[in-house]
Amino acid sequence: MKAVTWQGVGRLGVESVPDPLLLRPDDVIVRTTLATVCGSDLHLYDGFIPTMQHGDIIGHEFMGEVVEVGPEVRRLKKGDRAVVPAVIACGACFFCKKELYSLCENTNPNAHAAEQVYGHSGAAIFGYSHLFGGYAGGFAEYVRVPHADVGPVKVPEGLSDEQVLFISDALPTGYQAALFAEIEPGDTVAVWGAGAVGLFGMKCAWLLGAGRVIAIDQDEQRLELARRHCQAETVNFRSLEHDGQTIVERLRDMTGGRGPDRCIDAVGMEAHGTGFGRLYDEIKTRLKLESDRPFALRQAIQACRKGGTVSVIGVYGGLIDKFNIGAAFNKGLTLRMGQLHAQRYVGMLLEKVSKGELDATFPITHRMSLEEAPRAFETFKNHHDGCCRVVLRP
Ligand SMILES: NC(=O)c1ccc[n+]([C@@H]2O[C@H](COP(=O)([O-])OP(=O)(O)OC[C@H]3O[C@@H](n4cnc5c(N)ncnc54)[C@H](O)[C@@H]3O)[C@@H](O)[C@H]2O)c1
Ligand SMILES: [Zn+2]
Ligand SMILES: [Zn+2]
Repeated sequence: MKAVTWQGVGRLGVESVPDPLLLRPDDVIVRTTLATVCGSDLHLYDGFIPTMQHGDIIGHEFMGEVVEVGPEVRRLKKGDRAVVPAVIACGACFFCKKELYSLCENTNPNAHAAEQVYGHSGAAIFGYSHLFGGYAGGFAEYVRVPHADVGPVKVPEGLSDEQVLFISDALPTGYQAALFAEIEPGDTVAVWGAGAVGLFGMKCAWLLGAGRVIAIDQDEQRLELARRHCQAETVNFRSLEHDGQTIVERLRDMTGGRGPDRCIDAVGMEAHGTGFGRLYDEIKTRLKLESDRPFALRQAIQACRKGGTVSVIGVYGGLIDKFNIGAAFNKGLTLRMGQLHAQRYVGMLLEKVSKGELDATFPITHRMSLEEAPRAFETFKNHHDGCCRVVLRP
């Protein structure tokens, strides 16, 4: 089969590789019909996540048709169309029983490596480095999906692939971002990052009772998506720089001096910055004195109103510097964060999409074939041609 493989920082291959096989009785094999490049894939592409190996098949946001079924699988049968959550969870361990699926303790065969880095290991994620299990990912014609009764959800007839694809990752991630923000009715919610995850975070903030949503980015086309599809007020941090105002000052102005009640960081470790802060993080990451660039996170903490919540959904992988713990502490902030507990939300979100209560197609700006993955990554990474999300169809 054809698959997209990691070949070093900034390099991808489209190769012929052996087809996957059923390995355990509760596996299925899915023929991928649609996949999308996520911001998290850029962290692999740009070399921010360690333990990638040449030839690893990447991709964690995908869906397809079930073509082979292990003897113990109950919920799926051959011919079903299914969306597959990015996170692999066993459904039976201490953490899965608490619905903390991304903390599953049974699916990462390389747990010892994660324990050395993080103290404990989380769940495995498709196509997301050996630290996260080394499972082959979804940018391929076929994928082995373990624990098939726990993760994948069957897609009802009448819904297109594009309508449901993001239920695999970006949509539940946005939902979790809003949930972790602990929104109270009428709250002002500020979201850093207007990629698909941030945009879905904005939509879900309204679902959870927000009274106002403010989107922050430097990409005017994505901010337009935020205005048009997420009823957000927008702040372009790049043009703010030219106006000589900081994001913290602007948000204070917009909220009567108090600051947003809830702040969501949907940017993560590869944040772009302005001024001295940008230079600081660039030099420090180049010299390997910090691994992640927490530019948006620092701003979210600084801007958040006293007693508010900062929800961190953008991915962080290692160590950050100049973390404003004093601001967080003295303002009595709540910080919540983590990888997506996908399995907890997929059923509910599929229902909302089926009923037409939630449109999850609007971030799709580009459609390409699997062979075009290298171009898809460059287009997505550089926001070429107004790109917000590329979908890949094998
Ligand atoms: N926690 C999880 O389980 C989970 C799941 C999926 C994605 N993610 C993470 O969520 C983040 C967003 O994913 P995405 O697919 O939307 O990525 P994306 O790259 O499409 O979007 C990121 C956006 O942030 C903007 N940005 C950069 N620096 C900024 C700054 N300082 N202030 C405001 N905006 C800034 C970029 O212009 C871009 O539009 C990534 O870090 C990704 O890894 C987390
Ligand atoms: Zn993702
Ligand atoms: Zn588990």
